[in-house]
Amino acid sequence: MSRPATTTGAPLVEVRRLARAFGAVRAVDGVSFTLARGQVAGLIGANGAGKTTTMRILATLDLPDSGGVRIGGIDIVDHPNLVRRRIGWMPDHFTPYGDTTVFDYLDFFARAHGYRGAELERQVAEVMEFTDLTPLRDRPAPALSKGQMQRLCLGRTLLNDPEFLILDEPAAGLDPKARLEFKNLVRILRGRGKTLLISSHILSELGEMCDTLVFMDAGRVVHHGDKESLRRRDDTGAAVFDIVIHGAGGADALAAWMLTRPGWRLVEARRDGGRAEFASSDPAAIASELRRLAADLAVVEFRRQERRLEEAFVDMLRRKDGNGGARPPAAPPPLPLPQTLSPQALSALPPQTLSAPQTSLSAQVPLSSQTPLSLPQAASAAQASAAEEGGAP
Ligand SMILES: Nc1ncnc2c1ncn2[C@@H]1O[C@H](COP(=O)(O)OP(=O)(O)OP(=O)(O)O)[C@@H](O)[C@H]1O
Ligand SMILES: [Mg+2]
Repeated sequence: MSRPATTTGAPLVEVRRLARAFGAVRAVDGVSFTLARGQVAGLIGANGAGKTTTMRILATLDLPDSGGVRIGGIDIVDHPNLVRRRIGWMPDHFTPYGDTTVFDYLDFFARAHGYRGAELERQVAEVMEFTDLTPLRDRPAPALSKGQMQRLCLGRTLLNDPEFLILDEPAAGLDPKARLEFKNLVRILRGRGKTLLISSHILSELGEMCDTLVFMDAGRVVHHGDKESLRRRDDTGAAVFDIVIHGAGGADALAAWMLTRPGWRLVEARRDGGRAEFASSDPAAIASELRRLAADLAVVEFRRQERRLEEAFVDMLRRKDGNGGARPPAAPPPLPLPQTLSPQALSALPPQTLSAPQTSLSAQVPLSSQTPLSLPQAASAAQASAAEEGGAP
């Protein structure tokens, strides 16, 4: 047995060549990554990518076939009980027992963590306050709405004041308001110095919340970095625009114009214009092209687009598979991330050609809806085991 050792300055979480197979399915196939203390990390991947299996091992609920994990310098296989005191686990499916009230439920788990007396009262009250459950104190837990239930589950996860939180799809099924509230809770937890690993298959959602993203596909880590690093990784250097042309026939006119102008490519034709790519990111060249476009056509709106995270990820997977896979279905409606044009480009254009930025709330597109990614969906057996995970780790 190795001795536990906490090393200052070392990463809080070290995952090294982790592997776990279920029969022939290599759910986790050599996963390695590290998380610094205080980091908020997203674990992203399509259905069946291996996120839950990885997280369950980190939460000491399953054992790896090979490889290892150290949390705070402690080997989680050798010392699961030491690790459990320092982590909080929020499963993707959660069913509270019987018809206990919110208070009784949290009180029960706080006692299980060893709290007694005034400390117990304070801890439960604090967690209820933080998750906004105080008004629901006497509500039977099974009668809670989805969002309230998620808050109860998060509350239970926080009872032992863990330094590392492992949250499996915590925002799944939440309405936009509850998602915002959840993001706010993550922000506060980050402010308190917690380290978080949050899984989702909604890229844009994690991109907003996380300092770093670990991308998984078919049991492997295919990229680890911030969202910009993913965009940069496959950056073609092209500038992408959504363009709206006034009047009947405007879209055809745009398509025809694109054919005559070197460097332009119509990526996606639309009823009133299209999405187009110009093969340069040089501001002067772009400004000159946009002046020309506005002079030739009745442009009523255009918007510079950043490369969509989803596109960057799907492109990366396609290249990884040697272009062998089928092209994914057409992308969903655009998820604009407005970008500022250079001052030259701006000053060269009439102000009415610039449209207002859209809110990022619309930018929630399940990755799974557009990527035909490998492994089958998680076995229903995994779902059934959720009850077993109802308890604290
Ligand atoms: N207990 C199990 N028995 C057999 N196969 C399993 C088990 N748990 C997971 N798997 C398989 O391992 C693979 C990875 O599953 P996992 O649940 O880790 O994926 P995931 O990334 O969490 O997917 P999702 O986004 O659907 O939650 C899947 O192919 C799944 O069917
Ligand atoms: Mg999962």
